[in-house]
Amino acid sequence: MRNLYILLFSCLPILACSQGKDNLKDKFSDYFLIGATINQEDYQIIDKDKKVLKIVSENFNSLTPENSMKWMHSHPEYSKFTFSNAQKITDFAKDNNMYLLGHTLVWHNQVPEYISEIADKGKFNLHLKNHIYQLVTRFKGKVNMWDVVNEALNDDGTLRETVFLKMIGDDYIEKAFQFANDSDPNVELAYNDYNLYKPKKRAGAIRIINSLKEKGIRIDAVGVQAHWDLHFPSIQQIEKTIIELAATGVDVMITELDITVIPNPYELAGIAREEFKKFEGDKKWDPYQAGIPDNIQKKLTKRYKEIFELFVKHHDKISRVTFWGTTDKYTWRNDNPIKNRADYPLLFDRKYNKKPAFFELLNIDFSKIK
Ligand code: XIL
Repeated sequence: MRNLYILLFSCLPILACSQGKDNLKDKFSDYFLIGATINQEDYQIIDKDKKVLKIVSENFNSLTPENSMKWMHSHPEYSKFTFSNAQKITDFAKDNNMYLLGHTLVWHNQVPEYISEIADKGKFNLHLKNHIYQLVTRFKGKVNMWDVVNEALNDDGTLRETVFLKMIGDDYIEKAFQFANDSDPNVELAYNDYNLYKPKKRAGAIRIINSLKEKGIRIDAVGVQAHWDLHFPSIQQIEKTIIELAATGVDVMITELDITVIPNPYELAGIAREEFKKFEGDKKWDPYQAGIPDNIQKKLTKRYKEIFELFVKHHDKISRVTFWGTTDKYTWRNDNPIKNRADYPLLFDRKYNKKPAFFELLNIDFSKIK
C-alpha cells in the first residue's frame, strides 16, 4: 500500500506515468532515436557538469558532439589533430549505449585559418582526403553516422561559395562522400542542412542526394537541422519537407531541433550578420531576460506537441530526432545571432528542471495520431 502511495505521488506531476514512461528515449522507443548534444566549452565539458550528463543519459539514446569534432577543434593545425574532448564524448556515448554522431567533416564554418591559405588545388584535395580519413578511422566502430557535408547550399538551392567549392570544384560533395566511404564502408553517411522547408533549397538537397546515388556513391541519410521558431516553418511545411526528402529513399533525421522564442533579425533587409552586434543589450531583441512569460511557455509547449505528433505520424521515414543542446542554460541560441540573450528553446530550463513541453511530449497519446 505504501508503495502504491509513493508511486501515485511521484507520478502526479507527470501523468505520462500512466503509460509507464518517464523519459524521452523510452517514450519514443517504438518510433525513433532521441538525441541531444554535449558541448565542450569549460562550462559544460564532459567531466565538469555531471547534472547535464545525468539528464542526457536518462533521456537520450543518441548523442552529437556540439563542437568537438569540427575541423577547428579536431584538426587545428595543418599536421595536428586533437581528439581529447571528442574522445571523452565518445566514451560517454559508449558507456551509455548511445548512437553517436560524427559532426561534421566538411563545413565552411569553424574551420581554422590555415585551410584558406593552401594555394595548391592538388594539395588541398589531398588535405581534405586526409582530414576525412583521420577522423573517420579514429572513430571507426564508435561513430554510427557522419554528417559528411554540412550546409553546402544557399537558400536558392545553388551551391554555397566555400573554400571547398573554390579549391576542389562542383564535385567536392561527391569526393567527400567517396573519401568517407573509403575510410569506413560500414559507417552511415549523411548530408545535413537548415531551411530545407524552403522549396528551392530542398530541391537543391534532393539534387545532391540523387546525383550521389546516380553516381553510385553511398549516402544513407539527410539531416534536417530544425532550428525553428514558434510559428515557422508551419506544420504543413515540415510535413512536406519530410515526405519529399524521404521520397529519395534515404533516411530522414531531425538533427538540430530547437525552438527559439525570441525575435531574430535574420531576415531584416539590408542588414548583414556582422551588424547584429548593435542589437546587443537591446530589450527589443532580448525581451525575456527575467524569465519566460506564461503565454510564451504555453505556445512553446503546444508547438513541441504538434511537431512531435507530426514526427510520430511519419516515423516510418524518420530514424532520429536530436535536440541541439540539453538545457536552456547552454543553448547556442543565447549567443546566436546576438550575444548574451535569454532564449528558451529546449525541454530543460536553466536550473535543469523539466519544462511543461517535456511533460507534454511524455503525454502524447499515440493512439490518436493518424
Ligand atoms: C553551433 C554550436 O552550437 C555553437 O556552440 C558554436 O559556437 C557554433 O556552432 N548548424 C550546425 C551546428 O550544424 O554545428 C551549429 O552549432 C549550429 C548551426
